[in-house]
Amino acid sequence: MSEPSKLFKVTIDNITVEVEPGTTILMAARKIGGDVAPPTMCFYSKLKGSGGKCRTCLVEVSAGSTADPRPMPKLVASCRTNVMDGMIVKNITSERVLDARAGVVEFLLLNHPLDCPICDQAGECHLQDLGYEHGKAGTRYEFKRRTFEKEDIGPYIQLHMTRCILCYRCTYVADQLTNNRVHGVLERGDHAEISTYISKSIDSEFSGNMIDVCPVGALTDKTFRFKNRVWFTKPVDAHRDCPTCCGKVTLWQRGDDVLRVTARKDEWGEVQSYDGKPGWICNTCRFDKKHTADWVIEGPTKIDRHSVISQGHYVGLQQPKETVQAVMGGRAPKLLMDIHSVSDVNSVDISALPGPATSKTFDKKNQ
Ligand code: SF4
Ligand code: FES
Repeated sequence: MSEPSKLFKVTIDNITVEVEPGTTILMAARKIGGDVAPPTMCFYSKLKGSGGKCRTCLVEVSAGSTADPRPMPKLVASCRTNVMDGMIVKNITSERVLDARAGVVEFLLLNHPLDCPICDQAGECHLQDLGYEHGKAGTRYEFKRRTFEKEDIGPYIQLHMTRCILCYRCTYVADQLTNNRVHGVLERGDHAEISTYISKSIDSEFSGNMIDVCPVGALTDKTFRFKNRVWFTKPVDAHRDCPTCCGKVTLWQRGDDVLRVTARKDEWGEVQSYDGKPGWICNTCRFDKKHTADWVIEGPTKIDRHSVISQGHYVGLQQPKETVQAVMGGRAPKLLMDIHSVSDVNSVDISALPGPATSKTFDKKNQ
């Protein structure tokens, strides 16, 4: 019988953990959990070969190993660097890391539009969270951002390439979950873009999982687009006996309406695993089963209490301690300007406007 391999001791942000040889720094940090785990925008533990693209997960190695305790001169991508016995790593305890991460966020946002108010991913966007936690308020970028036309890739998915951060996750899903990948990264460098060759549609039964792995709003569910803001919906765990996939999903409901079906996510924002296998779901479960009667409801989904989605549902709204009145020494806030009194919006003679003629004049003051 072969002897069990000796575990490696690694210390990350002053917390020591024992892991199998061959474990990456990132997975060791996830074992500790919380803020010690570096953020990831391209690595996805359920997709082979992912990682190494975005540099969000950079960490400082201040001692390489017990045998060779020299520090590594440059920051390293934790999703692609294996631990050594006695390694000492700094993540949130390193000024260099925090500074570099702010730089990475700035790079990721160079071309990314700031259209969160109209983006379906808002509220569950990893780039939004990353920008909030590690970004800077301004940008130094002065050039025109690159923009693309929206592209329909298949009946259910819309690609909004302008928002893509080229993490490659969706191409790994297509490679590893479908029989025939028909999309990928075309061109190189500043011209690189995700596209299907001559807009060929993606019609594999598992293509919808690309939407779940996309960390931003570049790939969106056409059956859900603009239907609702995610924080107004109520996530519920449900399952069905599906012949194609695990059938374990989250239903995103508004009242009794099922607005969207997604795979269940774990604490790292990745699909949950069942019996060691990732719980990818098929397109039938995702797009065709939009009635509660199709599902066995298990109960409310546990959402991270920091998430904007949980604010309205399970942890209760936290009122800010300071109200405007408290800040103003007890005085009630006064309306400084009534926008309608300074705009002509309510005093327009619509008979003068192009379109069907009508003699009615709207004037709010006279109503
Ligand atoms: S479309 Fe989304 S998942 Fe695909 S590379 Fe772009 S950001 Fe990543
Ligand atoms: S998560 Fe490690 S490089 Fe992107």
